[in-house]
Amino acid sequence: MKEMKEEINQRLLELCQPLKEGKVKDAMIYSLLAPGKRLRPMLFLTVLKSYQLDYRSYMDVACAIEMIHTYSLIHDDLPGMDNDDLRRGRKTCHKQFDEATAILAGDALLNLGVNVILQTTLNDSLKVQLTNLLYQASGVNGMIYGQQQDLYFENHQASLEELQDIHYHKTGDLISVSLQMAACIAKKDDLEHWKQLGYDLGLAFQIQDDILDITSTTEQLGKMVGSDIENHKSTYVSLLGIEASQKKVDELFKKCYERIYAMQINHGLILELLLKILKRVS
Ligand code: IPE
Ligand code: IPE
Ligand code: MG
Ligand code: MG
Ligand code: MG
Repeated sequence: MKEMKEEINQRLLELCQPLKEGKVKDAMIYSLLAPGKRLRPMLFLTVLKSYQLDYRSYMDVACAIEMIHTYSLIHDDLPGMDNDDLRRGRKTCHKQFDEATAILAGDALLNLGVNVILQTTLNDSLKVQLTNLLYQASGVNGMIYGQQQDLYFENHQASLEELQDIHYHKTGDLISVSLQMAACIAKKDDLEHWKQLGYDLGLAFQIQDDILDITSTTEQLGKMVGSDIENHKSTYVSLLGIEASQKKVDELFKKCYERIYAMQINHGLILELLLKILKRVS
């Protein structure tokens, strides 16, 4: 797992090297290569591996997923959104550089993702399918919709159903699509199965994030704790409390395990990664 993460980091850097020199390139590399968990590309590659495929052939697709995720974090931290100063243990992009550069670096990462996929040597039909999945999931019907709703409910009390909808989109869509893209390559018949698993995992992941925002420390998390309270966010913790939220996380992970066991794959690899996510402290 550690090796896979190193390979992702190395390739991310390589893919940025040919970009035109300037502040935007510097900001892209600064945020992209900061010590994130690389969960979404790891999920994608690990699912491929669990079908006995050579995951290295799809490394650039994994990097495109991480580029979109990093763009979403850079923009999520902007003053007009969550207004956060710390990310991945470092100053946020707009604090290290400036707001305009952070906006452009986010735009550029979103943009670079599609080129990185289209420039692979994968067959054209597969490239189109992967690009379509990824950009649907991150677009206005997906992650951007989730972010829109997240901001709206800063000043309105969300019901549990509304909160679930926010989490499914702002976080679930990108996590789910990472699994779906792997299924699209490995076994299309399993795609729906991975899609649902991805939404359970995405919801669990965001509830964990809501819990950690209160229970963790800034040092451990690499971002400021208490950000949700400061922004009056509707979260699982604000609605249900920590204990009931953790119970929901555990239930969702159990559902994920059951879905994994129902598939004909090498279960061990993906279970190991899920366990790592379940036990995460940052
Ligand atoms: C943070 O994602 C944003 C959420 C969806 C909660 P991660 O917790 O995966 O952040 P990094 O990539 O490890 O920094
Ligand atoms: C962010 O949710 C989701 C996306 C970036 C799409 P949060 O706003 O809770 O994420 P953190 O806590 O800033 O990482
Ligand atoms: Mg946010
Ligand atoms: Mg945020
Ligand atoms: Mg959060």
